[in-house]
Amino acid sequence: MKISMKNSLVVVAMAALVAGCSSVKVADFDSIQLYTLKNKAGMEVKLTNYGAIITSIKTVDRDGNMADITFGYNDVSGYMNAVDKPYFGAVVGRYGNRIAKGKFTLDGEEYELATNNNENHLHGGKIGFDKVVWDVEIVNKNTIRFTYLAKDGEEGYPGNLSIAVTYTLTENNELKIAYHATTDKATPVNLTNHAYFNLKGEGEGTILDHELMLNAKGFTPVDKGLIPTGEIAPVAGTPFDFTTAKPIGRDIGQKDQQLEYGGGYDHNFVLNKEGQDGQMILAATAYEPTSGRFMEVFTEEPGIQFYCGNFLEGNLVGKSGKAYLHRGGFCLETQHYPDSPNQPQFPSTILRPGKAYETLTIYRFSVR
Ligand code: BGC
Repeated sequence: MKISMKNSLVVVAMAALVAGCSSVKVADFDSIQLYTLKNKAGMEVKLTNYGAIITSIKTVDRDGNMADITFGYNDVSGYMNAVDKPYFGAVVGRYGNRIAKGKFTLDGEEYELATNNNENHLHGGKIGFDKVVWDVEIVNKNTIRFTYLAKDGEEGYPGNLSIAVTYTLTENNELKIAYHATTDKATPVNLTNHAYFNLKGEGEGTILDHELMLNAKGFTPVDKGLIPTGEIAPVAGTPFDFTTAKPIGRDIGQKDQQLEYGGGYDHNFVLNKEGQDGQMILAATAYEPTSGRFMEVFTEEPGIQFYCGNFLEGNLVGKSGKAYLHRGGFCLETQHYPDSPNQPQFPSTILRPGKAYETLTIYRFSVR
């Protein structure tokens, strides 16, 4: 049921999205919706308030053909039941990526978080922000805002955290994601979006041929459990050097301990910030030569997690019936560094009462 037409916010009741989902409370059945943003150029982004998930991004290739370039499902049960929790398109938090052993000390108090990735805490825990129903505000025809109140003690975190994630589709084919949060007790916060991209189209093979540029001279090496060692290592002379665009697959097969630990690239890159923290910079670009699709990522964050779908095994079948292969999609998750609450030398992720967490990320799409 389309409520309005072209170049406007289209709200579609998500009947299909809730079908077969017996574990959701009745109230939630009524509240899960699918929203479509469309611009004059025809770019279209679909979002749902379950997990504040981006379910689809349709852009043109250099010949004007549309394809959906992000992973997802046609129904909410797909998101709820996906094995190995891939976090397709979701907002992850309260803390994106890992916190070692699910523990940290803040203002002299030790906190214990839910552990959901072996002994570690990943992407907010067992029921992170990707698995809750958010409230919705339709701001205008290009903009939608999802809000959620994470309660004091949820997944072990201190403080009632009030979060707003605002998605805007511009006429320049940009998807802007603005994050805002406030708290009533000091707490770590690190929000990001976990969209997987394949610029050929979701489910169209691997992303090893995509040419990636990362504006990062350093990265944070990890241990076997993918927890940063605390060091910032130079990328120069390693397979992690994406300072000049190169195919993702070019060096991924090199014998390298960090690639071994990640099963490929699954690392936080330290973005080159020449000015003060918080400035918006171009963090990454990705180009797919056959379609000509080009993507730029801008962020105010100090880091970006480049994850190339190493944990995908081809057993998840997406919305168009195609399997999501090993390395069939990549994520560029703008963020603070993983495990920052335990690494005082990393930029702080602690939000205190009276302050606002605010950060903007932009995905811009074009063709070349
Ligand atoms: C992490 C990976 C993880 C993936 C899916 C990424 O952000 O860096 O290690 O497997 O999310 O959960």
